[in-house]
This record gives sequence, structure tokens and C-alpha cells, in this order.
Amino acid sequence: MQKSYVLWFTGLSGAGKTTLAKKLQLLLGQSGVNSYILDGDVLRKSLNRDLAFSAADRKENIRRAGEVAHILVEAGVVVLAAFISPYREDRQMVRHLFSPGEFIEIYVKCPLSICESRDPKGLYRQARDGKIREFTGISSVYEPPENPELIVETFGQSIDDSVRQIVQYLRIRNLLPPGEK
Ligand code: ADX
Repeated sequence: MQKSYVLWFTGLSGAGKTTLAKKLQLLLGQSGVNSYILDGDVLRKSLNRDLAFSAADRKENIRRAGEVAHILVEAGVVVLAAFISPYREDRQMVRHLFSPGEFIEIYVKCPLSICESRDPKGLYRQARDGKIREFTGISSVYEPPENPELIVETFGQSIDDSVRQIVQYLRIRNLLPPGEK
């Protein structure tokens, strides 16, 4: 069976978490690796549609996401989880659900000013206008990881370079099928 693990992408909205997860999924698929994307925006319309953005709701959002990720990893799937997951404590909680080495925290690092200038969903604008409350980076805190397995900077290098960086990491950790270049 393939090695299963979770790549947990954390970072500001607009940093590129979902984009990286999608690109990586394509590459993994080409290598015969069965992966699944768990995405904050998607889960918040289904399993987590009862949750908003208070600290307590975010904690519950991440707790459920972590449990689902754990189930999938138990089933042998590689999970690509893309959640802002702004609180260190909540990410630690998820990490502890997994065996050592199974939880790989990837800090998708991008300055707020750049995320805000990208503003792919127009949410930063609305947050600045006071139309959205508790928006991460504007009116709600983001706590960067202190010791992530990997830091990927999504400014100043292309998406493909960022993906390559992750693939390189997986290769070194022996987490890709043998024979993959
Ligand atoms: S988390 O903080 O609980 O981890 P999650 O990743 O599930 O967040 O969802 C983040 C997405 O919800 C953002 O990409 C954005 O599209 C949307 N969103 C809506 N309101 C907010 C808000 N107040 N803060 C952050 N993201 C928000």
C-alpha cells in the first residue's frame, strides 16, 4: 500500500494554499498516488457549514478537519489539507492525532500586503470596509508556525517552483513511490 500522510497547508487567505494543493494533487496522481484535498472553503459549505470565524468556531473547524484527515490517512490516502488554521495550538492538536512523521506542516508564506493585493475573492476589500468581521490578517490574528516541516514562499518564486520544493521534500523524506524522478 502507498505511504499515507497529511500535508497540512497553513497560511493567510490568498497565500496560495489551495492552488498548491491542486497542482500537487495532479503530480501525485501522475505518480499513481491517491490523494484527497480537504479545503477550508469547501468544508465550510458541507461538514462545517454551522461554523463561523470566532476563535472557538475556527478551533472546531480545524478539529473536524483534522479528524477527517486522520480517517483518510488511516484509509491509506495522502491528504492535502488547505486551511488558514491561524492558531498554533489548533495545528498542534491536529498534529497529535497522527503518528510521528505523518503530519507535515507546510507554512505557505506570503506577506499580508501581497495577499491583499491579490485578493482573489474580494474578501480583503470587504474586510477593510468593515463588511466582514474577524478576517484573518486584518481583524483576526494569524500565528505563523514556529517549527513547520517546510516553508514555501509563494511570493518571489513561481507556483511551479513552490510545487517543486514540496516534491523535493517528499522525495528526500522517501514519501513518493520508488522510481519517481
Ligand atoms: S480557518 O481559519 O478556520 O482555518 P478556513 O481555511 O476554514 O479558515 O476558511 C478560510 C476561508 O473562508 C477563506 O479563504 C475565505 O474564503 C473565507 N472567509 C470568510 N470569512 C473569513 C474570515 N473572517 N476570516 C478568514 N477567512 C474567511
